[in-house]
Amino acid sequence: METRHIDIKVEVASSLDELETADRELVMRAQKAASRAYAPYSQFNVGACLLLENGEMIEGNNQENASYPCGCCAERTALNYARSKFPGTAVETIAIAAFNSDGQMNTPIPPCGICRQALLECEADSGRPIRVIMNGKSLTNIVHSVADLLPLSFDKKNLNE
Ligand code: THU
Repeated sequence: METRHIDIKVEVASSLDELETADRELVMRAQKAASRAYAPYSQFNVGACLLLENGEMIEGNNQENASYPCGCCAERTALNYARSKFPGTAVETIAIAAFNSDGQMNTPIPPCGICRQALLECEADSGRPIRVIMNGKSLTNIVHSVADLLPLSFDKKNLNE
C-alpha cells in the first residue's frame, strides 16, 4: 500500500492591510452582515460576503430557529441567494467573519462541513476555483479553492461514473 499526502496552500495575514483592496471590502461586508444575523440561540453571529464574476457582492448571515436544525449558516444564506438571483454566475471569492458577545472571534472562521459541500457544488459547476477568506480578529486565512478545504470529496462525478 502506498501513502499519498495532500497538501494545501494557506495564506495567512496578520492584518487586513495585507489584503488586496477588493478582499478587504469583502471582509468588511462580511463583518457588517454578521451584525444583522439572527442568532438568538447560539449568540454566534456569522457574516459572509460573496464576490460573483459579474461584480455583484452578496451578503448573508446565519438565520437560526427554535427548531435548531432548521437554522442556516451565513455562507449558505449568501450562496443560495446568489444562485437564485444569478444562476450560472461563478462565485470568485467568499469572505467569512464571526462575532460573539465579546466581539469578533480571534481565530479565522472556517466554513462548516455542510457549507463546504454546498460551496464545492458551486465551484464544480462553474469550473472555477472559489477563494475562501476566513477572517479572525488577529489572523485571516485564505485558501484558493473550496476543494482544498474538502479533500477526497463527494460530488456529482461520483454519482455518474
Ligand atoms: N455558523 C455559520 O453561520 N457558519 C459557519 O461556518 C459555522 C456556524 C452558524 C450556525 C449557527 O447559527 C451558529 O453559527 C453556531 O454554530
